[in-house]
Amino acid sequence: MPLTIGVPKEIYPGERRVATVPEVVEKLRKLGFSVVVESDAGAAANFDDESYRNAGAGIAANAAELWSSSDIVFKVRAPDAGEVALIKPGTTLVSFIWPAQNPDLMQALVARKANVLAIDALPRQLSRAQKMDALTSMAGISGYRAVIEAANAFGRFFNGQITAAGKIPPAKVFIAGAGVAGLAAIGTAANLGAIVRANDTRAEVADQVISLGGEFVKVDYEEEGSGGGGYAKVMSEGFQQAQREMYAKQAADADIIITTALIPGKPAPRLITAEMVKTMKPGSVIVDMAAEQGGNCELTEPGQTVVKHGVTIVGYTDLPSRLAKQSSTLYSTNLLRLTEELCKAKDGTIDINMEDDAIRGLTVIKDGAITWPAPPPKLPAAPPPKPAVAAAPAPKGHGHGATGPMPAGTLAIVFGVGAVLFWLIGAFAPPAFLSHFTVFVLACFVGYMVVWNVTPALHTPLMSVTNAISSIIAIGALVQIAPPLLDTPRPDAWIRGLAALALVLTAVNMFGGFAVTRRMLAMFRK
Ligand code: NAI
Repeated sequence: MPLTIGVPKEIYPGERRVATVPEVVEKLRKLGFSVVVESDAGAAANFDDESYRNAGAGIAANAAELWSSSDIVFKVRAPDAGEVALIKPGTTLVSFIWPAQNPDLMQALVARKANVLAIDALPRQLSRAQKMDALTSMAGISGYRAVIEAANAFGRFFNGQITAAGKIPPAKVFIAGAGVAGLAAIGTAANLGAIVRANDTRAEVADQVISLGGEFVKVDYEEEGSGGGGYAKVMSEGFQQAQREMYAKQAADADIIITTALIPGKPAPRLITAEMVKTMKPGSVIVDMAAEQGGNCELTEPGQTVVKHGVTIVGYTDLPSRLAKQSSTLYSTNLLRLTEELCKAKDGTIDINMEDDAIRGLTVIKDGAITWPAPPPKLPAAPPPKPAVAAAPAPKGHGHGATGPMPAGTLAIVFGVGAVLFWLIGAFAPPAFLSHFTVFVLACFVGYMVVWNVTPALHTPLMSVTNAISSIIAIGALVQIAPPLLDTPRPDAWIRGLAALALVLTAVNMFGGFAVTRRMLAMFRK
């Protein structure tokens, strides 16, 4: 029998999101489910009851009616005691739960004999799970919104401008922590025209920071910052000291600081001290996205905007809810993808398959028994450790060293064979060929050296400009069309016709190539 998915109105104070939007209602119905939505559930996210009705959902007048008519309930915030009391035995609840932080809630849900899928417990490291990763969707929105909040509190433009009234310098934005939220903030601030710098304890994010238009600022202290699973770890005291010195310099220079640094299961690292805030220019802004976990800034007050030492410190803990329409849409798409995994037969029923790593990971209560924490998912086997030779540092500027350097013996053989070949060509080839060959070899060498030293991020514009340059064959076509030089015979008309056509096509390639390169390079410029 097809099951009914229920979507209650969120009752957490200030929560504007809704777990399912009308567009997703239609898709859930195509999977065979009936959908019922509590009256006004989407009102704060700009989805009225009418739009749900038009999408084929039933409207429940109140929470009691909604919960009693639902077999599966989609929620955003973990249910409170009143909502838990409404759960029918056997109901499947899909919601943010945070089981580690909410042991009492877990016990209450067990008592209701529910199945509970905690979307926050999804094993994010599985690539198959990414489409269901609501933490990533919400973090991306928070990063964007943090920049908008900063812009709102900041009294100046983000981009530099030259106006009749004078020159305005671009705002300097420093982002602490370049995870999902930090990267979204970097991209947004850079797009608004600010000068963006960022730091993270995980050095591997540096390339991502650069590709989004930021500059990665390193802490002058060597220590591996990865704590496994893509997350950070608590750093040594020595590192923290060096990091504080660097952050103090950045704080004195920056107009806006956005902090996103978190360590799973630990209080947020304290990165911005009261002393640093004092050195910031009056009118500067700090947006502390770690406010809920204690804050990255010593002076943050969670949920509040305060002004201290002339600096506005924004500590909102509901950033995704402040873009409710966007976050509801992304969240409900995450839940739709999860439902597709649970209902492969598209018959309106679900199978919580505990053999499936992704489903196992987020199932925290099954048939009224706690199944959290799940064993770590089986990830694809790690590549075998590289031999000692390959572990040598790659030459500067390469970024291509996937295959590692060639062993010395093989290199000697390659050089030997090459030398013999060149000697044979030099000794026996006709002189005309030899001069062309010399130019060819030099061109290969110079081309190799140029391309190899270009940053990988710039390879696409490079290819496009190379494409444009290759249009130099236009010269060949011109030679064919032009009046003959000296006493060489004029080519046939059909050859000249073909050459003219080649010229037109090459011109498109040439101008198009340079135009595309210009546009691509513009994406890397401020
Ligand atoms: P998060 O919200 O736990 O942490 C935010 C950022 O703060 C992280 O980049 C972390 O390295 C940084 N941080 C922690 N302590 C710091 C300190 N003392 N100073 C400076 N920075 C500090 O992490 P989030 O954003 O949820 O994910 C972290 C990473 O995991 C991301 O880069 C993401 O790409 C990766 N990830 C990987 C997935 C996968 O393997 N499929 C799925 C989801 C995320």
